[in-house]
Amino acid sequence: MSFDVSAIKKDFPLLSREENNDSLIYLDTAATSQKPQQVLDVVDSYYQEINANVHRGAYRLAEKATTAMENAREKVSDFIKSERSEEIIFTKNATESINLVARSWGEANLSEGDVVLLSSLEHHANIVPWHQLAESKGIEVRWIPLTESGLFDLTDLDRLLEGVKLVAVSGASNVLGTIPPVRILADAAHDVGALCLVDASQYVPHRPTDIEELGCDFLAFTGHKMCGPTGIGVLWGRSELLDQMPPFLGGGEMILDVTQEGFTVNTIPWKFEAGTPPIAEIVGLGAAIDYLESIGMSNVLEHEKTLTSYALRTLTERLGDDLVIHGPDDVSVRGGVFSMAYQDIHPHDVSQVLDDRGICVRAGHHCAKPLMKLLGVGATVRASLYLYNDEADVDALADALDATGEFFSQ
Ligand code: ALA
Repeated sequence: MSFDVSAIKKDFPLLSREENNDSLIYLDTAATSQKPQQVLDVVDSYYQEINANVHRGAYRLAEKATTAMENAREKVSDFIKSERSEEIIFTKNATESINLVARSWGEANLSEGDVVLLSSLEHHANIVPWHQLAESKGIEVRWIPLTESGLFDLTDLDRLLEGVKLVAVSGASNVLGTIPPVRILADAAHDVGALCLVDASQYVPHRPTDIEELGCDFLAFTGHKMCGPTGIGVLWGRSELLDQMPPFLGGGEMILDVTQEGFTVNTIPWKFEAGTPPIAEIVGLGAAIDYLESIGMSNVLEHEKTLTSYALRTLTERLGDDLVIHGPDDVSVRGGVFSMAYQDIHPHDVSQVLDDRGICVRAGHHCAKPLMKLLGVGATVRASLYLYNDEADVDALADALDATGEFFSQ
């Protein structure tokens, strides 16, 4: 199919709003995506027509709600090419998914001196849970270095892997756009008897995902960056691992039986889903997947690659040496996330001038402070692209950066 961005834009009601009398240009999908009408309608009709608690009531409405939720689990499973939908655990967000692995698998399987190997571009969500285990259990957190252009430097990988029990890396950087060599790392981890976890928050929304091709053992991602609601995250894990892992939270759906003496644990996935789940959000995530599937993830990827090339070329040509774009310039190893320094203007000031022109970008450390330190900056201004962005949005960004330079030179 040809990729019709103007038709796609119309699916997203918020994109036709005005901001400060300019049409809104949304370039902050790495923080959260906008939501199409198709998803809003499904969530609305869930509450209007289906709402009941799941896995509890014997009445038809409750069965309908349970079916809607479990159908969404099947959709998520198919979307990442898992063959077993019980391997899909619903959480609150990707952060909770990673914490689940750290608290459950990590607590049970790691001991003092064991190493968790991270990369130097990780989001705090894939750093802090491991720091916590370092504090509580004495594990070592080790770091894969980056090259000058923001790629993984695997020169010393054999040495880095000594004593490693888990390699936990981002599938796509929320700061540099870098797409790490996950398959190479997963295979290398397995060769030394370690597991591999991928924080796929910035990966799953933007390209076809195949867990067998990635070769990892755990995959964490979130609904709100892929056209779905907030409050719904996913952990995929290999069932043989999930079966062995102790529950993370206690109560509700995670039990088979409770007595005054103790409890027995349910099977996966419910073992990890204590309490009433975010049912409407899960159903909404299913609708987001239907929406993305109707466009085709390969088409989304092609569109973003073309637009990323256009953005790199346009921003560099238009703004020259005044603009530094951190990260790789090769679109085969990067996605459409641009962390930038413009002249010596503070990123928050840049984002404020952009906001005056209706352009939404994020300024700050992007929850990746160790990476910021390596880049030698406290903050960047970050623009990020998605399926609803087009060349006109990139041109508007270039115009606005140009205007920012003029504003601050006065
Ligand atoms: N992790 C999100 C971001 O990078 C919130 O903006």
